[in-house]
Amino acid sequence: MFYSPELGYWVVTRYEDVKSVFRDPLLFSPSNALEKVTPAPPEAQEILKKYGFDLQRTMVNEDEPQHMERRRLLLDAFLPENLIKHEPSVRNLARQYMDRFLDKGRADLVAEMFYEIPLTVALHFLGVPDDGAEELKQFAVAHTLNTWGRPTREEQLAISENVGRFWKTANDILDRMRADPTGEGWMYDTIRAHMDHPEAVPESYLRSMMMAILAAAHETTSNATSNMFWTLLSDRTAWDEVCENPALIPSAVEECLRVAGSIVAWRRIATDDTEVGGVKIPKGGKLMIVQASANKDGRYWENPDDIDIYRDNAADHLTFGYGAHQCMGKNIARMEMRVFLDEFVRRLPHIRLADGQTFRNLPNMSFRGPESLVVEWDPALNPEKTDP
Ligand code: HEM
Repeated sequence: MFYSPELGYWVVTRYEDVKSVFRDPLLFSPSNALEKVTPAPPEAQEILKKYGFDLQRTMVNEDEPQHMERRRLLLDAFLPENLIKHEPSVRNLARQYMDRFLDKGRADLVAEMFYEIPLTVALHFLGVPDDGAEELKQFAVAHTLNTWGRPTREEQLAISENVGRFWKTANDILDRMRADPTGEGWMYDTIRAHMDHPEAVPESYLRSMMMAILAAAHETTSNATSNMFWTLLSDRTAWDEVCENPALIPSAVEECLRVAGSIVAWRRIATDDTEVGGVKIPKGGKLMIVQASANKDGRYWENPDDIDIYRDNAADHLTFGYGAHQCMGKNIARMEMRVFLDEFVRRLPHIRLADGQTFRNLPNMSFRGPESLVVEWDPALNPEKTDP
C-alpha cells in the first residue's frame, strides 16, 4: 500500500486490502471507476458534443443506494439458470469460426476468433436486433485507450469521433428497440424496468448503458480468453492435462482468471479519512486497487506464480471485483471461456504457440490482453481426420 505521486493514486496491492476496499462501496466509492485517466482536450470535447454524447453513471460507477436498487431490478438475466440458453449459440459460433481455419495449420486467434465472438454474444444477450448488431460491430472503439490509457492529442481526436459515432448509433438503435419494447434480451429488460421504475432506472442510465455494457462485456471477455490460451499453451503440462481430462476445464478457466485476468486494476475514491493496510488515506484520496497483484499475493496463495489447475481456491481471485459491484456478467464470461476451451481441446489439442511472439498489450492501466495470439498445428493430425 503506497502513494504514487506519478499516478496520483494510492496503490493497493495485498489480497486482503484489495478485498476490504471492494467490500465497502460507501467508504470507497466507485464513482471514479470510468474517469478518463488522461483528460480530453477541449477539441475532443467539441467533437463529442457534436454527436450529443452524454455518458452518465451506469452501474459500475453508481453510488448507493441507487446502485443496489438498480442492480436488483436488472439481475435476473445474469443468473446461471437464465444463461444456459445462450450456451448452444456460443458453441455454434466457436465451431463456425474454427471451421474457417481448422485445415490451415496456423491462425491468429485474437483476429480470427476471440475478438469477435464475445461481441456477438454480448449483442445476443442484450437482444439487439441483427441489423443493429451489424451497425454496432463497425465501431472498434478504442474505449480502453480512451478511458485508461495515455492517448496523444491526435489519438484523442480520432477516438472522440469514433466514440461519438458509437454513442449516436447505440442511441438510434435503442430508440428503435423502445418503439416496441416487447423483445427478449437484457436491454429490453432494462427498457421495461425504466418504464416501470423510472426513478431507479432513469433515461440517462438507459442511454449510457447501451454503450457501456458493450465495453464491459466485449473486450474483457476477449482478453480473458486470449490470456487463458496464452497461459495454458505457455505451460504445456497444464494444456496437456486439460486435453487428457476435459473435466478440468472449469478449474483451468478459474486458474487462468487468477494468474492472467483481463482486468488488472480498478479504481475507487475515499469518501472519508480512512486507513488501508495501516496507511492513512485522506478523504478524496483516489485508490488504484491492483487485482493482478492481489491474485498473486503469497500471503494468500500457495505458490502464487505456479499455474495449478488443481488449486481448490482459484475462484477466490478478485478479477471480477468483489462485493456489491462484483461483475454481473462473470458467468457469461466463464461460460464462453469454458466453451472455447472445450472446443479447442477436442478439435485442436495439438496446437502450440508460434515461435517468437511477444505479449503486446494496449498501453493502459486496467485492461490486459495480447494484441495477437498466433498458434500453429499440423492439420493432418486433426482428431476429426481420424475420428470425425
Ligand atoms: C463490473 C470484470 C465480463 C458486465 C465489473 C467489474 C470488474 C469486471 C472488475 C467491477 C467490479 C467492482 O467494482 O467490484 C470483468 C471481467 C470480465 C467481465 C474480467 C471477463 C472476463 C463481463 C460481461 C458482462 C459484464 C460479459 C455483461 C454481459 C458487468 C456489469 C458490471 C461489471 C454490468 C457492473 C456491476 C455493478 O457495478 O454492480 N466487471 N467483467 N462483465 N461487469 Fe464485468
